[in-house]
Amino acid sequence: MKKIYLYGNWKMNMNQEETEGFYKDFGQQVVSSPALLGVMGKSLETAVFPPFTSLAAAEGASKNIDKRAVPFLGAQNTYFEAKGAFTGEVSISMLKNLGCTHVIIGHSERRTIFGESDDLIAKKVKACLDAALVPVFCFGETLAEREGNKTFDVVSRQLRAALSGRSPGEAEKIVYAYEPVWAIGTGKSATSDEAQEVCAHSKKLIRDLTGSAEMPVVVLYGGSVKPDNAKELLSMDAIDGALVGGASLKADSFLQIYKAYAGIE
Ligand code: PGA
Repeated sequence: MKKIYLYGNWKMNMNQEETEGFYKDFGQQVVSSPALLGVMGKSLETAVFPPFTSLAAAEGASKNIDKRAVPFLGAQNTYFEAKGAFTGEVSISMLKNLGCTHVIIGHSERRTIFGESDDLIAKKVKACLDAALVPVFCFGETLAEREGNKTFDVVSRQLRAALSGRSPGEAEKIVYAYEPVWAIGTGKSATSDEAQEVCAHSKKLIRDLTGSAEMPVVVLYGGSVKPDNAKELLSMDAIDGALVGGASLKADSFLQIYKAYAGIE
């Protein structure tokens, strides 16, 4: 069975107590399932992305459970400058100092609600790579763009902008997440064929842009992934895992996504 990346984007949810509760539940569920414990860190890689204010609680709570359960911790955003007069922003070194290994960059909510441009997002991707923090780079089209047959133009533009100036070695370190905006938080997931088509196109484009045909590329799908559609989506060959919003807030539904895929009771 292929390796699955299961990443939970908590968005503006989960205070410190709730974060500690999640880790406790998650740890208990993993150790009580030999089938799950057996795949952790091998064919299943998990990470959660709490809000900034819960990162320290997450890091602390992760020390009280089996190390394999949630080995990676990420933030949902960062700024590309190292320090200075940037009110409200959080730097990469601050995140690393809290134990972060990953950071989501260019989520559609950052692009649409907070006006982040392709150019700003590309600077963040570069800064993360320079500092050895894994960028989880999100891209995807809106409903109007899909209906206007612009999906491939839009995702290609977003990928080109993010990868401009990046070497194959750098491009390989990025985790890519295809997240059609119309499927996020709406309960209306892309079909497995729709997701597969864009993920396959993106993998090819990433390899073409870097001139490295054999480069391993990890592409996740995100947008209303739930236990009941997980098997179909994660079985597609161009999809390496899921970036999960709503269903990642409870240890049970988050783990059910992998269990449904792998056929674990
Ligand atoms: P959702 O969010 O699973 O709640 O649709 C996914 C995301 O925005 O990463």
